[in-house]
Amino acid sequence: MTSAAGDGSPRRILVTAALPYANGPIHIGHLVEYIQTDIWVRFQRLRGHRTLFVCADDTHGTAIMLRARKEGRSEVDLIADMQASHLADFGGFDIQFDNYGSTNSDENYRLCRQFWEALRAAGLVTERSVRQLYDPEAGTFLADRFVLGTCPVCQASDQYGDNCDKCSATYSATELINPRSTLSSATPEVRDSDHLFVELEQLHDFLEDWTQNGEHLQPEVANYLKGHFLGEPLRDWDISRPAPYFGFEIPDSPGNYWYVWFDAPIGYVASTSQWCEQHGERLTDWWQNPDTEVHHFIGKDITYFHTLFWPGMLRTAGFNLPTKVHIHGFLNVNGEKMSKSKGTFIMASTYLKHLDPAYLRYYFASKLGPRLDDIDLSPSEFVAKVNSDLVGKVVNLASRTAKFAAKLGLAPDYPDDGGLFERGAQAGQAIAVAYEECDYAKAMRLIMELADQANPFVENAQPWVLGKDPGREAELRDVCTVALNLFRQLAVYLSPVLPRLAQQCGELLNDEIRDWDQSQHPLLGVSVNKFKHMLKRVKPEDLQAMIDESKQAPTDEQSSAGEAPAEGNDPWNDSAEPLQAEPLADTCTIDDFVKVDLRVARIVAAEHVPEARKLLKLTLSLGGDVRKNVFAGIKAAYEPEALVGRLVVCVANLAPRQMKFGLSEGMVAAAGPGGADVFLLAPDSGARPGERVH
Ligand code: MSP
Ligand code: ZN
Repeated sequence: MTSAAGDGSPRRILVTAALPYANGPIHIGHLVEYIQTDIWVRFQRLRGHRTLFVCADDTHGTAIMLRARKEGRSEVDLIADMQASHLADFGGFDIQFDNYGSTNSDENYRLCRQFWEALRAAGLVTERSVRQLYDPEAGTFLADRFVLGTCPVCQASDQYGDNCDKCSATYSATELINPRSTLSSATPEVRDSDHLFVELEQLHDFLEDWTQNGEHLQPEVANYLKGHFLGEPLRDWDISRPAPYFGFEIPDSPGNYWYVWFDAPIGYVASTSQWCEQHGERLTDWWQNPDTEVHHFIGKDITYFHTLFWPGMLRTAGFNLPTKVHIHGFLNVNGEKMSKSKGTFIMASTYLKHLDPAYLRYYFASKLGPRLDDIDLSPSEFVAKVNSDLVGKVVNLASRTAKFAAKLGLAPDYPDDGGLFERGAQAGQAIAVAYEECDYAKAMRLIMELADQANPFVENAQPWVLGKDPGREAELRDVCTVALNLFRQLAVYLSPVLPRLAQQCGELLNDEIRDWDQSQHPLLGVSVNKFKHMLKRVKPEDLQAMIDESKQAPTDEQSSAGEAPAEGNDPWNDSAEPLQAEPLADTCTIDDFVKVDLRVARIVAAEHVPEARKLLKLTLSLGGDVRKNVFAGIKAAYEPEALVGRLVVCVANLAPRQMKFGLSEGMVAAAGPGGADVFLLAPDSGARPGERVH
């Protein structure tokens, strides 16, 4: 069914790219995947196949919860911002989803229940106690990467909770000597809690067959699974996390939440379901239909989830299994991992400020093969490829002839071109096979070979000479007809990679490119529009400016919601407006200052005050059992749930004040003009409730 296209009836194809985490902005590493997938989708559509492309933000988990806490806002607020930023980045690179959802959606919850009930009914779920470290200050269980301590084997200090990078020993976090939480520096407690597990081993035979039958996975992936997992019993999959956790609470296990990797792939189905609802279609036609092909595109780091757990879940719940999981390697820059200090950790939004997205789409296409090798971005190769291939060989065909054709139109009969167009048409089949097999590097090579044959034709015919001689108009028109038809043939073949170029070609020749078959027949006897600039040469200095800016940009952890970094040389570039709005107060002495007793406090409870428009009622702990009630005018800025657990600074010796709703015994320190723009002050982690601010 997935054999190379061109041989028969339209296929029904559902395509997904991995759901990006909502805790960071899109960078050029991610774009390898989204561009790869978008090209494949556009190719399938061009071939006339019914193709649906869905994706979503992956929103759940501890990282989002902690980040929202740190930023003093709700998770829902945070993930809404991230989704907007992701969508802007994808749009900027012409990555076009039919639906872009969120794993934190009603559809996803409903489907998670459906999958869950199927797993329960199949007898795959068991429960047992798990011993884990718990951070009493942050109020959360600690994943291994949030614990540091001394290696129990070699005594090396500052090792993470799963293995030692000095002696390579693996151990469980509870074995670390002198463990401390990286979230709060607190000494973690050992706590037991009940977790739910999926007994994947019950599906061993099925997974062995599905992964090894040569139909769904690249051979090296099948071998990897056989060597690493399938040779022994499959381990139970820990699928629940105790509160607090940002996610869906498990309906039949209150206080426990589905682990993010349970609900994330179900997000593929949920996003499809959203699309179906909006388009009057049935989900079952896409996900429970043997005539639908499901194609997942992912990076090699998440192979395990997509080739073992996910097929197991789909099979148990009675959904389509993936027809293919297409797995790609990682992006390096100059042969090394992307690095912020070298300016090679480039955000999608930073790229778009300096360079045309078409360049990166073409460059990645020219590097992507069907295997899992990492791909390397070399800035000098990037410049050379774009300038010599796209500008020098492809656009050149049009830019050298279109202005004459605008006066003369295209000839009514196709002139003798020595067989160039015909050879180009015949190459279409091999190019299509290469696209279908995700061997875009080969497709680009084949296309550039055609361009290499076309260019000498134009050089020999010298239209710029013919154009000066009014007596040779017919000859000139023939040359332009050939050159523009060869250009159009290339534009059709390149259109999955370069949709804008294809559109410009369509506008030039009054014939929109929408079908692969347009590469097989020349366009004749039509008028030609005025040539507009198509693709500029890359300027190496623009590339350098992008790298320089990437050195300054805040890192993932520091940036809030991946906003654009400040312009100019001063990386902070703060506005003078706040200080102008409220000038500095008169000088005070240190004696004046110490009269105000500022303390670190933890918000242990927060609730709405129904009668008060602006207020939240906060219960602050100053350590031990010292509590204070405070009414704070921060309702427009914060959801009460998001505040519980976080540290603030409070004015602890403020005279109590009787308010309509109760006694207010202090104040929390905050900045900002008011309304939704209120920002609570937060001590760095390590500060403890009750400590005085000096
Ligand atoms: N949220 C999970 C996927 C859940 S799918 C049900 C995730 N998110 S991610 O944001 O970390 O990555 C999204 C995709 O981008 C993954 O397929 C990942 O492999 C890919 N890449 C992330 N960094 C990459 C590179 N540096 N290079 C190539 N691909 C990379 O994983
Ligand atoms: Zn060690």
